Amino acid sequence: MAIISSKKQPPEPNGQPRKRRESAPAAPKENVLQKEAAIDEQGKQEESIRPQKFADYIGQKDLKDVLDIAIKAAKSRGEVLDHLLLYGPPGLGKTTMAMILASEMGVNYKITSAPALERPRDIVGLLVNLKPGDILFIDEIHRLSRMTEEILYPAMEDCRLDITVGKGSSARIRSIPLSKFTLVGATTRVGALTSPLRDRFGLIQKLRFYEVDELSKIVLRSSQLLQTNVSEDGATEIAKRSRGTPRIANRLLKRVRDYAEVKSCSEITQSIAAEALQLFQVDPCGLDWTDRRMLSVIIEQFNGGPVGLETIAAATGEDSQTIEEVYEPYLMQIGYLSRTPRGRIATKAAYKHMGFTPPNEQLSLL
Ligand SMILES: Nc1ncnc2c1ncn2[C@@H]1O[C@H](COP(=O)(O)OP(=O)(O)O)[C@@H](O)[C@H]1O
Ligand SMILES: [Mg+2]
Repeated sequence: MAIISSKKQPPEPNGQPRKRRESAPAAPKENVLQKEAAIDEQGKQEESIRPQKFADYIGQKDLKDVLDIAIKAAKSRGEVLDHLLLYGPPGLGKTTMAMILASEMGVNYKITSAPALERPRDIVGLLVNLKPGDILFIDEIHRLSRMTEEILYPAMEDCRLDITVGKGSSARIRSIPLSKFTLVGATTRVGALTSPLRDRFGLIQKLRFYEVDELSKIVLRSSQLLQTNVSEDGATEIAKRSRGTPRIANRLLKRVRDYAEVKSCSEITQSIAAEALQLFQVDPCGLDWTDRRMLSVIIEQFNGGPVGLETIAAATGEDSQTIEEVYEPYLMQIGYLSRTPRGRIATKAAYKHMGFTPPNEQLSLL
């Protein structure tokens, strides 16, 4: 597993803290590694069904076409792949694509995320250890600290590390050459990236929500890996309720699998999937409790809006950033919510879905 974790480090004798090497820039510190190790552990089940090859990566045709060309061109010139920024809501396949790129290019990759790179030496440790062509994947790249970002600029542009040695008037900048590498950044909020950082990516690609037929293929593929029987219509039912997101499709599949097992069903059919997901409060459009609460607050308490984001956050108990990055994109995608400068508005379709009569139709009923 190439996620940076303590596994890659040699075991420490008798649990003694590892001696600091004086000259070499510090390797990523233990707590950075532990954070990553925790992600590693948590994501183990996800790893088993994560596609490993380009051919298994379903959907996202535009993204695949662009990357396919970039890979072929880089390979034919014997060059390193250009820096790539992937953006889009969580669970659409950004991390997966970074791993696939590494395997297609035949290089190693290292995965980290911006919150784990708090101190300059965290990023320095990673950069100096990269081999030619390696892929460095930084998740949530919009959260990089300013110092870390500034270390990245010359590294991305000129494969150079500028380190300030000394303090005050005697401070000097020392440059260390780095191997040519590819930075793959992922973010849910491309607008939050500083423009100097954004401009240093040669490729900037958006991931879009998946269609139902693409998600059904993903469900069928995962069901094979999980050795679960799912009929075509069972897969479609799960796909329809997955909010256009592969991670959710896989998660729902596992819930439905539990349900089918407990009910001793040998195959997940459409009706079993629907029954199970109803039990887990995932409605036929894939909306969960928070989505529905958001819509009902806007409709019932604010006459359909506009309502400010903070008000919606308070009413649902979610933080406003999660609402903005996780909940809203899908509600807007399916046309239930629109965003205006004065706040969020529930659309006619949202009224109907929630079992209310839209305001202009209410008038005609009078
Ligand atoms: N195009 C795809 N085809 C098949 N499965 C996918 C695809 N994209 C994502 N997945 C599945 O969804 C899960 C989440 O994807 P991930 O790459 O971690 O999302 P992100 O990094 O964008 O949050 C992965 O474990 C993988 O199994
Ligand atoms: Mg990810």
